[in-house]
Amino acid sequence: MSASRFQATPANSEDDPALRAILAHTSLPGTLSVTLEREPSFFRGCPDAHRHDVVAVRDSDRTIAALGSRCERAAWVQNQPATVGYLGDLRILSPYRALAGRILIEGYRYIKELEKTRPTAATYTAIFEDNIPARRALIGGRAGLPHYLDLGRLHCPALLVHPWARCPKSRRFTCRVATEADFPVLADFLNTTFRQRDLAPVHSAADFIAGQRWPGLKAEDFIMAWENGTLVGCIALWDLRAFRQIRVQAYQGWLHYARPIISSAMALLGWHRLTPPGVLVPAAFASFFAVANHDVGLGRLLLRHARHAAARRGISLLFTCLHEGDPLLPVLHGWLAIPTVGRLYEVSFDGQARLTPERPPHVEAALL
Ligand SMILES: CC(C)(COP(=O)(O)OP(=O)(O)OC[C@H]1O[C@@H](n2cnc3c(N)ncnc32)[C@H](O)[C@@H]1OP(=O)(O)O)[C@@H](O)C(=O)NCCC(=O)NCCS
Repeated sequence: MSASRFQATPANSEDDPALRAILAHTSLPGTLSVTLEREPSFFRGCPDAHRHDVVAVRDSDRTIAALGSRCERAAWVQNQPATVGYLGDLRILSPYRALAGRILIEGYRYIKELEKTRPTAATYTAIFEDNIPARRALIGGRAGLPHYLDLGRLHCPALLVHPWARCPKSRRFTCRVATEADFPVLADFLNTTFRQRDLAPVHSAADFIAGQRWPGLKAEDFIMAWENGTLVGCIALWDLRAFRQIRVQAYQGWLHYARPIISSAMALLGWHRLTPPGVLVPAAFASFFAVANHDVGLGRLLLRHARHAAARRGISLLFTCLHEGDPLLPVLHGWLAIPTVGRLYEVSFDGQARLTPERPPHVEAALL
């Protein structure tokens, strides 16, 4: 192997079919092994990137051996609106895995150049805890790779949605779906609730207009909770299936053997069966989940509203994401769910930390 065999280059819309094919053919390992696909367009299926750079590491015959994305996003950092970088979509095609070292070094050299020319307040990424190959390859400051500074666990359970999930009732709170007229108050509420939480999106009312920053999201996907005329909580059911899809590739370990039994038992009890391998998961995201004063009871109420909205659309899994230090974490207890845990990392090329897990960061499950 010569040192120049692999070259990192920018990928563009001409590479779109090749990039989509790589996503469809490279699964993420874990108890539930999935591919994260992006049909019909790789580039349009990447929400919340006011700039999206894709690095393609090519073999000497120009074949793409690996890819990675760097997205610039508007987010809160130390109480201030800032631009942050998110690294995602890392995939090395299986035949090239034995050469991962050289490929990763080329790819990260390119990302480092981008970081130099377009500096951000911080760069971050997330890796599933049971993605051992990724953690082995990336963590630990290997030669030519940046430092991955651990910012703690992300609890991203896939909550099971019963098809007959009922609409919850509350005497204390009035819950209703949003209209476009609510966008300014929603943006204010989210900004007030999350401005102390590093990496949470900075919102503006205009971003919520359909087809703008949040593809596939409409006003009526938001549920707002009011108390005595004041907005005290919100959540959105974000269905991104027209842009990004999750396909089950395999159930591993105990779930491989237990799935048929669990699935039959669930069907008997009126639940959706567990999605079989090869099939897209009918999943959506409980997004923009915010409550005033860390009110866990209100959090549960809103999550039940999202579950009800999901059931009405035939969605069987609802993902959300809370950091291990999030005061709302108890909201996730007591649900029937497939536990999924990730780890959040600051990616630092100079070894300096810009973010701290002391104030729990906040990331949206749909944007990982
Ligand atoms: C994550 C992924 C890119 C890691 O690649 P990998 O090939 O599994 O990584 P490995 O740690 O096994 O590395 C392969 C070889 O490269 C070497 N290597 C890796 N990084 C190196 C480095 N920085 N310097 C020198 N050698 C290195 C390893 O030592 C290993 O060589 P060996 O087999 O002789 O020991 C790859 O598994 C992948 O694409 N997975 C699917 C998608 C995915 O999970 N993406 C991550 C989402 S967060």
